[in-house]
Amino acid sequence: MTDREQQDDEIDLARVICPLHELEATGARGFTLGEGDWPLRGFVVRRGDAVHAYVNHCPHAGFPLNWPPDVVLAPGGGHIRCIMHGALFELETGVCVAGPCMGHGLQPLPITVRDGYVLLDAEVPLVDPT
Ligand code: FES
Repeated sequence: MTDREQQDDEIDLARVICPLHELEATGARGFTLGEGDWPLRGFVVRRGDAVHAYVNHCPHAGFPLNWPPDVVLAPGGGHIRCIMHGALFELETGVCVAGPCMGHGLQPLPITVRDGYVLLDAEVPLVDPT
């Protein structure tokens, strides 16, 4: 293996959202990556082998969707739910299917699952995009 291939293989710890197994219990998890006053705040959701990530910013009034931090899903786990006014979003697309922001959507974040970790893709700035 060349030095370049080894660098490409290494995991950038600044972009680790969580170990994949952490999503088994709750199906979702909030995260903060970056530093300073405006880090990137998001959450990940898992259904089966599929994992999706979104910016933690509700398109209705701009509040974070979760409280407590790892409670992002509606009871039953079929939808993402905003705790503020109850909007429901599809897990796979982030599109609001019920509530005050119907038809609007969450901002997706590109991620990769590698070596048992959920990683934010390298091109995403670690700052609040809203
Ligand atoms: S802020 Fe999310 S539904 Fe109102």
